[in-house]
Amino acid sequence: MNELTEKINSLKKEKNAVILAHCYQNIEIDEVADFVGDSLYLSRQAAKTDADIIIFAGVYFMAQVAKMLSPNKKVFLPRMESGCLMADMININDLNEFKSQHPNVPVVCYINSSAEVKTKCDICVTSSNAVDVVKSLNVPEVLFLPDTYLGKWVENQLGGTTKVITYPGFCPTHMRIRPTDIENARKQLPNAKVLAHPECKKEITDMADFVGSTKDIMNFVAHSGCDKFIIATEKGVTDRLIRDYPNKIFIPAAENLICPNMKWNTLSDIYNVLLNEENEIFVDREISEKAVNCINKMLEVTEKCLTK
Ligand code: 13P
Ligand code: SF4
Repeated sequence: MNELTEKINSLKKEKNAVILAHCYQNIEIDEVADFVGDSLYLSRQAAKTDADIIIFAGVYFMAQVAKMLSPNKKVFLPRMESGCLMADMININDLNEFKSQHPNVPVVCYINSSAEVKTKCDICVTSSNAVDVVKSLNVPEVLFLPDTYLGKWVENQLGGTTKVITYPGFCPTHMRIRPTDIENARKQLPNAKVLAHPECKKEITDMADFVGSTKDIMNFVAHSGCDKFIIATEKGVTDRLIRDYPNKIFIPAAENLICPNMKWNTLSDIYNVLLNEENEIFVDREISEKAVNCINKMLEVTEKCLTK
């Protein structure tokens, strides 16, 4: 363990802090993280932790969700530049315009959205529970934002029972994967299984052997008898799989599958925010009280699905 890691771990104890890290973070952050996972897993941890301080090694909306779920705790983001480019594609005016084009249709928002946008949505989803949550609504149509690809993938998974009207947002990192990248990767690693995140374009999810959230992809590998995989999501997932399964082979679906904003946070930043308590996340109380409803509704559906 290096000196910085030791310093962070002892400060964590002293301040009763917990570190949540998304699977897209720089891999060395796992050395100090208490929980590493996808958006759903981390938001569930944020809701139930009894720590006084949450350091969210992820992007801004994730820290905002943690603050809304634990309003009495201090939540810090190691680097304030860590926004989500997809979440930034819709603001409250865009949302109002989208809703006015489709009045009286329930609104489902991907957790990758701002707190303000969440105040005007009926229920939230993450990539790992989107199908179950939309299904639970039992309605003929929904509006879905901001990710058009996740929304259309959900519609497809539901087999036509619910029309999903999507907002034209997307993730610039996942969008970069092209069908020719998958074809080339398959030539490079024959008989490999292609595992893709649902933020990828439809052509890619159609080609994949499995589609799921970052954590679902990791679980798929854990339970698969296969030993070769092409990973169609951000590099952090591929890096962790290579570390965790030395007897299996993983290649990224394309070069440089990096979310630049996820990569801002370093161990030094984590140490600094923990020491100086800078970069605290605040959410306006009125906004938080409204926005948290759609997150709690999502968590209720998820708990029900998990206990089934
Ligand atoms: P997960 O729901 O898989 O954590 O995805 C979040 C995200 O931002 C993917 O780009
Ligand atoms: Fe946002 Fe895409 Fe980065 Fe995920 S990978 S945080 S969706 S920009």
